[in-house]
Amino acid sequence: MAVLVLVLLSALAILSPPSEAKLYRNFYQKTCPRFDQIMQDTTTNKQINSPSTAAATLRLFFHDCLLNGCDGSILISSTAFNTAERDADINLSLPGDAFDVIVRAKTALELACPNVVSCADILAVATRNLVTMVGGPYYNVYLGRKDGFVSKSSTVEGNLPKPTMNMSQIIQIFASRGFSVQQMVALSGAHTIGFSHCKEFISGIYNYSKVAKSDPQYNQRFASALQSACADYKNNPTLSVFNDIMTPNKFDNLYFQNLPKGLALLKSDHALNSDPRTKPFVQMYAADQKMFFQAFAQAMEKLSNYGVKSGKAGEIRRRCDAIN
Ligand code: HEM
Repeated sequence: MAVLVLVLLSALAILSPPSEAKLYRNFYQKTCPRFDQIMQDTTTNKQINSPSTAAATLRLFFHDCLLNGCDGSILISSTAFNTAERDADINLSLPGDAFDVIVRAKTALELACPNVVSCADILAVATRNLVTMVGGPYYNVYLGRKDGFVSKSSTVEGNLPKPTMNMSQIIQIFASRGFSVQQMVALSGAHTIGFSHCKEFISGIYNYSKVAKSDPQYNQRFASALQSACADYKNNPTLSVFNDIMTPNKFDNLYFQNLPKGLALLKSDHALNSDPRTKPFVQMYAADQKMFFQAFAQAMEKLSNYGVKSGKAGEIRRRCDAIN
């Protein structure tokens, strides 16, 4: 009988795909009962003291998930032997506040329940809490991710969208990870908060007048304002502008309403409103915040489950910035 059970169990193990990590709603209920409370306290305190944390963390999480799945690999620091993801060019602008909120949560959680909670789970929950705190929709974050072992800056190129990419390239980055065009547009609504550095959009704000009126790229007054805001950007590369100039700190659908008015910041934001594949979704979300919130919440839940690691494919890191 015991042999039969063993055979059955191993057959089951072979049948279930190893890559499909199972996540649970209450994963830490027994092993770290104060998990939710500690996460809530840490994210709230950090956001109150540094209001840019929410946008910073949302972008950090997005970049983590797209590179090798949501496995906390973006949190790893470079060593003498390895240049990590976070030191790739595109990630150098990820703000310190985002890393800091994860360190704070991890420190508090290690005191309460050592070696139990993964950095990948902390990043996923911190993102959800912070999005909700600035007015965005709530969504479930299932737990039990392991932290990844691999973080290489050389794997970043081509795997994260850039404002200079055309829409087909951007769609492809999302499609190769199972995200539809509609989900990509909904996720791009993340640009309702946070800011961009001048160098990310400077090339577009000087030739706005060449564009036909029927397809407004930059609104002329907006472009002039951007030109003066960024006038000194070569000497001061930290100069930056809010992504959603109407309600920069509030998670809402104003980002989508801005696009047809020529008030988008990045070339890729403008493109969402001019490409026939994406424009219908922009119009839909601009007209109906509830629909945007539903779509964003669903897409974020999907993103949070993307490529998660389990079993021997990962570990519970003791510090989020280094492999054990
Ligand atoms: C669709 C293609 C996308 C492109 C080309 C893009 C590009 C960028 C760029 C260039 C910045 C400015 C970074 C800086 O100067 O510091 C930025 C900011 C930001 N992005 Fe995206 N992004 C895209 C999609 C997304 C998605 C899907 C999310 C999240 C789900 C996201 C979240 C954010 C956030 C929150 C910020 C503000 C960061 C801050 O304030 O620190 N982006 N993005």
